[in-house]
Amino acid sequence: MCGIVGYTGQRQAAPILLDGLSKLEYRGYDSAGIAVRDGNGEIEIVKAKGRLAALSEKTDCGRALAGTCGIGHTRWATHGEPSENNAHPHLSDDGNVVGVHNGIIENYQELREKLLHNGYHFYSDTDTEVAVKLIDYYYKKYLGTPVDAINHAMVRIRGSYAMAIMFKEYPGEVFAARKDCPMILGAADGECYLASDATAILKYTRSVYYIGDLEIGRLKDGAVTFYNLDGDEIEKEKVEILWDEEAAEKAGYEHFMMKEIHEQPRAITDTLGSVLEGDSLNLEGVGLTDEALKEISDICIVACGSAYHVGVVAQYVIEDLAKVPVRVELASEFRYRKPLLKEKELVVIISQSGETADSLAALREAKSMGAKTFAIVNVVGSSIAREADHVFYTMAGPEIAVATTKAYSAQLIAVYCLAVQMAKARAQIMDAYYKELVKEMTLLPGKINKILEDTGRLQWLAARQANVKDAFFIGRGIDYAISLEGSLKMKEISYIHSEAYAAGELKHGTISLIENGTLVISVITQSGLYEKIVSNMVECKSRGAQLFGLTTYGNYNIEDTTDFVIYVPKTDEHFAASLAVVPLQLLAYYVSLSKGLDVDKPRNLAKSVTVE
Ligand code: G6P
Repeated sequence: MCGIVGYTGQRQAAPILLDGLSKLEYRGYDSAGIAVRDGNGEIEIVKAKGRLAALSEKTDCGRALAGTCGIGHTRWATHGEPSENNAHPHLSDDGNVVGVHNGIIENYQELREKLLHNGYHFYSDTDTEVAVKLIDYYYKKYLGTPVDAINHAMVRIRGSYAMAIMFKEYPGEVFAARKDCPMILGAADGECYLASDATAILKYTRSVYYIGDLEIGRLKDGAVTFYNLDGDEIEKEKVEILWDEEAAEKAGYEHFMMKEIHEQPRAITDTLGSVLEGDSLNLEGVGLTDEALKEISDICIVACGSAYHVGVVAQYVIEDLAKVPVRVELASEFRYRKPLLKEKELVVIISQSGETADSLAALREAKSMGAKTFAIVNVVGSSIAREADHVFYTMAGPEIAVATTKAYSAQLIAVYCLAVQMAKARAQIMDAYYKELVKEMTLLPGKINKILEDTGRLQWLAARQANVKDAFFIGRGIDYAISLEGSLKMKEISYIHSEAYAAGELKHGTISLIENGTLVISVITQSGLYEKIVSNMVECKSRGAQLFGLTTYGNYNIEDTTDFVIYVPKTDEHFAASLAVVPLQLLAYYVSLSKGLDVDKPRNLAKSVTVE
């Protein structure tokens, strides 16, 4: 996690670095720092604990630091507590090398010992300080160039990193090195930029380079040069980023999360639009011809967090429509458990960022086993997108709030497309139903807009729930999958302890936690399971629970059982998650708001988890 930025050009670097960091703060926000050097090569470092605002204040919005070349960092602590001392940039003993780092150096203890043995001292608890000093060590040992020194260090370092480094003897230059952590570089109008993600540099250029694993970039005089591990220069193609800068701004909303909730209809329309041809779908552009879809024997979906919850929805939808066995795995488990994959099994990796360390490792594991891999990814050019055999890009645009909303919705549409087209290719559904399903998908954005038009009741409910200690989300089938996401939204931004349960499983333990006033939120969109879930709700009510029901218009009988009901429009029940999730996102948002919490940047979390 952590965000890094770099700049070299003619303008003052500090304000540009701070501006870039403000776009990356979602990646980590327990401390921040910048290093800027002036024409004489003197390096000035300023760090501050806490949010970026503290650093901005300390540097008078960057005006206090003079210099046209610099690097910056916003931290999400891994090694060492959040403190000014542990904040980046880190400096070698004599100030020769200064660097910022995102990632984890796994063998940092061993490297630290080696450096201590060679006379180095350490002032922080970070692995980054070790990496910076290791580069300094090799720079001095072999008397080579910065590229040589970084190369030597990269060979010794185990782990993941995106680093930006400056060398005292190379004023006006920033060096970049990468392994398994996101980083992009851009050059425009005689200036060069580097950042953990595109949102930080969109304002300056949309034409960027993706640096590969174990590669080095050199930013100098408005141009970027790339080198491989042998130190040989390598050519790279520029890639155009289609997101515009405005997409990464709040556009009048109080929080990014609210803006992104409202962007869901657009995210769905665009994602669907990328594979829609008239009244049919065509997945050939994402690498799945009808022939290929027919050959798949099984599907294994691997993901983390909300993307995993999309996988749980997909399991129900694909199995029901296409009649292909699907299993869903948490990437952090999949990567270490030596999974068995069938010859014709398709491994689907779902990831907004395309950089989640566990999902990337799972993809590599699947590929090493010879499996065909298909990624559903939002960030263009991200590691997962580049390494998977085929990619279906969700068109959600940049998502900034840590709690995902529009990327989740776009992922849902992508898996529906997979399910529906697969069902058709394998002749599991009639043509008329296929057309109906496609049509129904096109109607989802309008129905979400309808939900968004009237949020008053949800705000009222949220205000009343701000003090609850526990919440349980229950559902069956797809409603259970929706509950998983609703519960995650609630806990991550409102800090209310919340659990999602398959309603039928409650009585095997969890029901003992239900007491007077416990909030139980039931999702009821699957008509075949309606009566079953109502009995589970009654079981909770008879033990004192306050019952909140989320169901479709028409199910008015539910008011006999619940204390409060929210209705969503009807759709084909396979697609119910797309509508039912919206009130749950709003509920979590309003609870967080009424508790006065930081909606967009909840404590301890980061949006892009690029470490294990
Ligand atoms: C973090 C985010 C979640 C996200 C998960 C997986 O935990 O806070 O919103 O679902 O990572 O991220 P990915 O980028 O792989 O979808």
